[in-house]
Amino acid sequence: MIRPVFVFVVLLCLTIVTAWSAPGDTHIVIETRRTALVIRVDKDQNPTIVHLGQRLDRTDEYARIPGNGKRGEDYTGIYNSVYTPAGGRNLLEPAIQVTHADGNPSLDLRYVRHERKSAEEGTVLTAVYLKDPQYPFEVTLYYKAYQNEDVIEQWSTIRHTEKKNVTLYKYASANLYIPAENYYLTHFHGDWANEMNPTEELLSEGIKMLDTKLGTRADLFQPPSFMVALNQPAEEDKGEVMAGTLAWSGNYQIAFEVDPLHNLRLTAGINPYASAYSLTPGKEFTTPAFLFTYSNSGKGTASRNLHRWARKFRIPQGQGNRLTLLNNWEATYFDFNEEKLTALFKDGKKLGVDLFLLDDGWFGNKYPRNDDRAGLGDWQENIKKLPHGLGHLVKEAEGAGIKFGIWLEPEMVSPKSELYEKHPDWVLKLPNRQEYYFRNQLVLDLTNPKVQEFVYGIVDDVVTKNPTLSYIKWDCNAVIYNAFSATNPNPSHLYVDYVQGLYKVMERLRTKYPTLPMMLCSGGGGRVDYGALRYFTEFWPSDNTDGLERVFIQWNYSYFFPAIATCNHVTDWGKQPIKFRTDVAMMGKVGYDIVVSKLDEKELEFSQQALKTYEQIKTVVWQGDLFRLSSPYTSDIASLMYVSESRDRAVWFSYLTKNRYKAGSTAPIRLKGLDPAKNYSVRELNVYPGTKSAINTETTVYSGNYLMTIGFNPNVDTRRTSVVLELAESK
Ligand code: GLA
Repeated sequence: MIRPVFVFVVLLCLTIVTAWSAPGDTHIVIETRRTALVIRVDKDQNPTIVHLGQRLDRTDEYARIPGNGKRGEDYTGIYNSVYTPAGGRNLLEPAIQVTHADGNPSLDLRYVRHERKSAEEGTVLTAVYLKDPQYPFEVTLYYKAYQNEDVIEQWSTIRHTEKKNVTLYKYASANLYIPAENYYLTHFHGDWANEMNPTEELLSEGIKMLDTKLGTRADLFQPPSFMVALNQPAEEDKGEVMAGTLAWSGNYQIAFEVDPLHNLRLTAGINPYASAYSLTPGKEFTTPAFLFTYSNSGKGTASRNLHRWARKFRIPQGQGNRLTLLNNWEATYFDFNEEKLTALFKDGKKLGVDLFLLDDGWFGNKYPRNDDRAGLGDWQENIKKLPHGLGHLVKEAEGAGIKFGIWLEPEMVSPKSELYEKHPDWVLKLPNRQEYYFRNQLVLDLTNPKVQEFVYGIVDDVVTKNPTLSYIKWDCNAVIYNAFSATNPNPSHLYVDYVQGLYKVMERLRTKYPTLPMMLCSGGGGRVDYGALRYFTEFWPSDNTDGLERVFIQWNYSYFFPAIATCNHVTDWGKQPIKFRTDVAMMGKVGYDIVVSKLDEKELEFSQQALKTYEQIKTVVWQGDLFRLSSPYTSDIASLMYVSESRDRAVWFSYLTKNRYKAGSTAPIRLKGLDPAKNYSVRELNVYPGTKSAINTETTVYSGNYLMTIGFNPNVDTRRTSVVLELAESK
């Protein structure tokens, strides 16, 4: 017998479903292995987002998703638009705002069609074509779904064939819609030598904006990377988290709007600030890409997804090798000559690194670069310091048995320089305003093709003249003040054209020198984003190399960027012993910036051995999966491990980050990511000469199951402030 209550429930369900998903609706499903983004197109061709999260087993069931997560009246029908157009019925934060050639300030975007495009292996590229019914104005939304990595890359192209130019006031890369009970945003802030401080906050109704207007080293105060945890605050291994980042090295704006229905609307893209863009008919504007990954098993999975994606698809030689190096910046600053450098080459060799990196101060003659107040832009060897030129140094280094690399800051200029005297119009400045300097320098006008040619030439010349030059550190120490170009006909294109000009130069360089290792530096981490990391093999996270500080800085970068791209140098900053500083540096790409000859016997022996050990474990750190075990924000210990893909090896780092009485690892720490069925031997690495490791005295073999259920105590305490353990499968 069918009960009346049952009939009522069925009817009610049907009513709700049909209210939101009409039979004629089209569903565009963008899926990765575990994630889905679903766009619904209704009978009026309105494209809206109905799902962003875990994928369903049955694709046909996406059509059943009720109600766009709506919990009340949507006065516009497009709160959840795939790309919210401004000026018509929209009432919330738009993704795009334009004024048409005839002065009409409104836009309507309706679905035209969508298609799967062929793309590189392991990816599916979906293009969704939208058009204004009243104007020949089109937007195409691209979604590239990286199947195994669970990453979606989204960007848009904008084009029109109106009679005159159309002004784009806002042109976001992505517009997403996520319904949940609560939204916990983790974003990062900082300054020079103080990068990547996290803040987690509960979003409330209204808009929270992450944004920068600095132009060049755009991330100095705030990087374009964030996480949003849904419902609960983000946890390492639990809960729904979306990690996102904008691949753009200039001004950006990421808006998190909790709308009147308590759903989260996200718009991410180039900052509209001072950037109205006049688009000529027939020309296409391509926005930068917004990258995101969704995880329903916490921040750990989200970051591992991004790491895998970055290594495989984004960072040059992301699955290749990196060079260890000795940098002379903190050893000499500007005070060096050929003799001193030649001695340092030998030191580098003695230490056991692959390369010597000559930093700032090697150039400028009329205005020698003897401090940071002159010479930038005059890229000729200073004849007093280097009378025999760079070629001689390269040979000397190679003679000493190591490779040679060099520091450049091609985008900037000192007011005291021949370059500025010769080309005052190549500099960004306002003719009737006082010049403002950031680290005593100005920014070159990379929107000017002649300047692009000059900047390209700096690198091309130095590599052409020294074909075995093996490394470039590309620095960027000034922000844009007085944002104005003497030659750009569109003043409000400046910020966008600058970044595009930079990318043009980098593209040319990468085409000519596809394998040259290049470090992305910006007075520390002022420019760490996946736009630039398309061209750079690695980045400099911070000038702050204090071992303890670095634990935190690297911890936070690691949510978005893989160890292989993270340059960590052992320097004299901070109070931690050299072992601590070395252990910390090993969680990435190791370098040194110390006076090797000042190391005592044990320090030198330790460092030499550490570099040999690094050779053995680097592949696990660079290519392995990162698992965070104990957070320095909530315990005495920072503990994290890298596990090889086949789970036969792992390297586990633990640090004491608090110094209260009895601080330390009082209990076993549970490991993660191992194979429960495998057996692992545990061995301590980087044991300081003259000390003994209690762990290494017995042959300790444990099952993965034991290590992940009960754990293991690395015995970190005030006498053992950093401990590195290697786990190797024992057959
Ligand atoms: C910046 C970099 C440093 C160093 C100096 C040289 O501050 O971050 O590593 O290269 O410039 O001037």
